[in-house]
Amino acid sequence: MSFLVTGGAGYIGSHATRLFLSRGHDVVVYDNLSRGHEAAVPQGRLIVGELTDRQLLASTLREYDVEGVVHFAGLTYVGESVEDPALYYQTNVAGTLSLLDAVRAANVRRVVFSSTAAVYGMPDSCPIHEECSRSPINPYGRTKLMVEQILADYQTAYGIGFVALRYFNAAGADASGELGEDHAPETHLIPLVLQVALGQRKSIAVFGNDYDTPDGTCIRDYIHVNDLADAHLRALEWLEPGKAGAFNLGTGHGHSVREIIDVCRAVTGKEIPEVIRDRRPGDPARLVASSEAARRELGWKPRFTDIQEIVATAWNWHSKRPAGYRTSHSNASR
Ligand code: UFG
Repeated sequence: MSFLVTGGAGYIGSHATRLFLSRGHDVVVYDNLSRGHEAAVPQGRLIVGELTDRQLLASTLREYDVEGVVHFAGLTYVGESVEDPALYYQTNVAGTLSLLDAVRAANVRRVVFSSTAAVYGMPDSCPIHEECSRSPINPYGRTKLMVEQILADYQTAYGIGFVALRYFNAAGADASGELGEDHAPETHLIPLVLQVALGQRKSIAVFGNDYDTPDGTCIRDYIHVNDLADAHLRALEWLEPGKAGAFNLGTGHGHSVREIIDVCRAVTGKEIPEVIRDRRPGDPARLVASSEAARRELGWKPRFTDIQEIVATAWNWHSKRPAGYRTSHSNASR
């Protein structure tokens, strides 16, 4: 099949693009490079453009005879979304509406959308399944939930099939060492801990050790980025025009902040000093996915179930490319 991958220069989008190409699909990446990296996209596959550029989107969809759109493009910082909600509603919601106009005009009938565990807000039960109440607690989560609702209405009215994939904590990197996580600023736990191991930071801050969890630190469900990529391909294959679904993607196992730091120490052989800090506002104590629906419907199953192995793939990337994509011979933006 032929796919348009928006945000294909980003962390998860670049891994998905690599997988789609390796399975013989045709891929065109559409990215404005505001947060993504040109060096993460295979040569000749990138179109630099804005989601608001409907004409460029429409002509790209037609020119490449696109059969499915995989929509990763968007902003993903919770804190930034609180400080500048307009930016988030403009990019994530208005940007998606513009993309969907082009999708309708080009008669594309398959859309896979990057959603998030943030749509659940502070969940009252764990593991979280898709029917749990969706009450996001920040603008970022609300933009993602709004797009899910828009997609549902478009499916009913226009017959555009969609899958919303609700990622838990994306982690790890491709074994090639050529793709990995490179955010500026970095806010995610595993890359930050590995930056301490690399000597780029003095210590890792543990945001709260008085949660109602066995060691007092927050528990998350870390899912390997290549397992996320695989779920997108399965979703595209599952989709028929008019079909729709929302699926959680996680391993079903939770790891505390303290466990993650210990795993990073074991994988890197470095000391990694930690300091206890106040809780970060808006952090739920525990977020663990039930991915039974994805297993059942999509036949998806995470291949990386060992957190040590997941962290090892991240360490492979960070230790080989301590400056991220900046070390490559390209003019990639950060
Ligand atoms: N943490 C620290 N110190 C740090 C960074 C993080 O202790 O320096 C803790 C956080 O408090 C949290 C855990 O590590 O308990 C994981 O934090 P991340 O920032 O790596 O990830 P989040 O769980 O906050 O974020 C993920 C996704 C978001 C999504 C959110 C939903 O990355 O896109 O889950 O709650 F919005």
